[in-house]
Amino acid sequence: MPKLVVVNRAGDEKEIEAGNGVSVMEAIRDAGFDELLALCGGCCSCATCHVYVDPAFADKVEKLGEDENDLLDSTDHRTDNSRLSCQIHLNDAVDGLKVTIAPED
Ligand code: FES
Repeated sequence: MPKLVVVNRAGDEKEIEAGNGVSVMEAIRDAGFDELLALCGGCCSCATCHVYVDPAFADKVEKLGEDENDLLDSTDHRTDNSRLSCQIHLNDAVDGLKVTIAPED
């Protein structure tokens, strides 16, 4: 199972595991983090699942989608590493992926 390293808003780091094909949002939520609201449930329409992807994995995760890009523009804390975690899925190619939960808008 792919591993995922999650850094919460306090800077605490935790390694979790999730099945292949599970979205990063689902993996984070299922691991008990309550900072990631994910209000739309993964439909790419809320931007409350905003994370920063470690630059080392930028080319390994799925490409940024058009809708995702538009939604990220609506957040106050967008950076070059911003992604919506419901639009990135775990698999062995991104084993060890590290993401930081973005500040709340
Ligand atoms: S959960 Fe709403 S955009 Fe990701």
